[in-house]
Amino acid sequence: MEIVNMTTLSEAQIRQAAQILTDSLPMGWPTLQDALNEIEEILVPGNTLLAAVENGEVLGLGGVLAPKYNGNVFELHPLAVRSDKRRQGIGRAIVAALEDEARRQGGLTIYLGADDEVGDGETSLANADLYDDLPGKLAAFQPGTHQAGFYLKIGYKIVGVMPDANGYGKPDIFMAKRLR
Ligand SMILES: CC(C)(COP(=O)(O)OP(=O)(O)OC[C@H]1O[C@@H](n2cnc3c(N)ncnc32)[C@H](O)[C@@H]1OP(=O)(O)O)[C@@H](O)C(=O)NCCC(=O)NCCS
Repeated sequence: MEIVNMTTLSEAQIRQAAQILTDSLPMGWPTLQDALNEIEEILVPGNTLLAAVENGEVLGLGGVLAPKYNGNVFELHPLAVRSDKRRQGIGRAIVAALEDEARRQGGLTIYLGADDEVGDGETSLANADLYDDLPGKLAAFQPGTHQAGFYLKIGYKIVGVMPDANGYGKPDIFMAKRLR
């Protein structure tokens, strides 16, 4: 498997990446066309989109967007690995390459927003009153089946929450990692 810049992908490979995006995150991109539009919108100079490719087939993709805060802070967006290829280190490899890129560009912090919006909520922050003892709730955080568990594994920490970002009791969870 190799990690390549998505600007080098063929049209067919871009479609494979878009298919992974809509399959993995249907709340964000309900259709293949939505995912293709998203890739077209963010695959522009300033952002870096990378894909994991094996035998010409796209297995996952990830991006860092143009930095904010005077170049100090990079947002990791999006990230998805084909469902039959998960838990094999591909997500970790894509994120490591994105962190390298953000570091190369002088970034100090990489962060992401991970919505807890599926079903009745997956993490211990879903359906909780985040205005009451948030530090205590963060200390006792349990990711459940949510992708926050993956980010915790690879060194990200919760640095904030946006209560009710996706409807009542469905927060966005901000996670970040120091780059240097
Ligand atoms: C999150 C995602 C990208 C992880 O990709 P992956 O290739 O399966 O991750 P890796 O195999 O590199 O996992 C790295 C470590 O995290 C662990 N891990 C992976 N997913 C996890 C999860 N949901 N919960 C807890 N731990 C997890 C792995 O077991 C591995 O641990 P190890 O080092 O002890 O073996 C993938 O599950 C995915 O595409 N999910 C759907 C889309 C999504 O949620 N994207 C993120 C939006 S913010």
